[in-house]
Amino acid sequence: MLDFAIELAYRAGALIRAGAERDVRYEPKQYADVVTEVDRASEELIVRAIRSRYPDHAIIAEEGSGANTSSSYTWLIDPLDGTLNFLHGLPIFCVSIALLVDRQPFLGVVYDPMRNELFYAERGRGAFLNGRWLRVSQTTSLARSLLSSGLPYDRFEQPDNNLAELTYLAMLVQDIRRPGSAALDLCAVAAGRTDGHWELGLKPWDVAAGGLIALEAGATVTDWQGGFWHPLDGDRIVATNGLIHAELLAALAAVRRQRLAKS
Ligand code: IPD
Ligand code: CA
Ligand code: CA
Repeated sequence: MLDFAIELAYRAGALIRAGAERDVRYEPKQYADVVTEVDRASEELIVRAIRSRYPDHAIIAEEGSGANTSSSYTWLIDPLDGTLNFLHGLPIFCVSIALLVDRQPFLGVVYDPMRNELFYAERGRGAFLNGRWLRVSQTTSLARSLLSSGLPYDRFEQPDNNLAELTYLAMLVQDIRRPGSAALDLCAVAAGRTDGHWELGLKPWDVAAGGLIALEAGATVTDWQGGFWHPLDGDRIVATNGLIHAELLAALAAVRRQRLAKS
C-alpha cells in the first residue's frame, strides 16, 4: 500500500508540475480560497486509482470526489496543498495522501514535485525523505527556534484567527515563516528544518499525512492544549521537536487567556 501511495503521489506530482508551467483555470471557493483545474485533475487521478485498486475503501478527498463506504480503510487526500502558492507561481506546494486503518493513521506520503522531495512514513516504521531517515531538530528553546504557522481562509470574519498568536510569538522566537502548505510545514518539522508548527482552521486532508510523518520522525504532535491529536478530530495542531513543546503551548495559552480577559 505504501508503494501504491508513493506511485500515486509521483503521478499526481508530475501532473501538478506540468500545470505549474502553464496558465490554469481557477474559481473562487469560499473566503480567500480557490480551486484550480489542477486540484481537480490531481484528485481525479488519485481517487480513480484508489477506487479501481481498492473498490471497498472509503476516500475523503478535498474537492469532494471521495467514496463513502463502511470500510475500516480510509484514504485522506489533499490533491494539491498550497493552491494559492501554485496559482501565484510560488513553488511551495505538494500532494498529500494518507491512509487510516480503523481510524488510526497508518501511512502518509507527501510529495513536493518542484524539489522532487518525497516524504513518507508508515506507523511504527520511521519517516523518510527520498529514502533518508528523518529526525526532528535538537533546538531546546523557543528563543532559538524557527517556527512556521498559517492563517485560516475565514480570518476576515473569525476573530480567533491566529493573528494574536503570531504577534505574540513573533517576539519570543528566532523567526516565524508562513510557507503556505500545511502538509509541507509538518514535513519541515519532521526533517528538522523548522523546530515547530502551529495552526488552526485545518482540515483532515491537510494534516493526516504530514502529522504521521512528523510523529514518526520523533515530533510531539498535539492539539493546542497539549491533548491527543487526531486528524479527524479538531482543526488545531501543534507539532514540535518535543523539546520546545511545553514552551509553545504556554505561549498559546497566554494568548488564549488574554483573549478571554478582553471578552
Ligand atoms: C491550505 C494550506 C495552507 C493552510 C490552509 C490550507 P490548500 O491548503 O495548507 O498552508 O494554511 O489552512 O487550507 O487550500 O492549499 O489545499
Ligand atoms: Ca490543503
Ligand atoms: Ca488542497
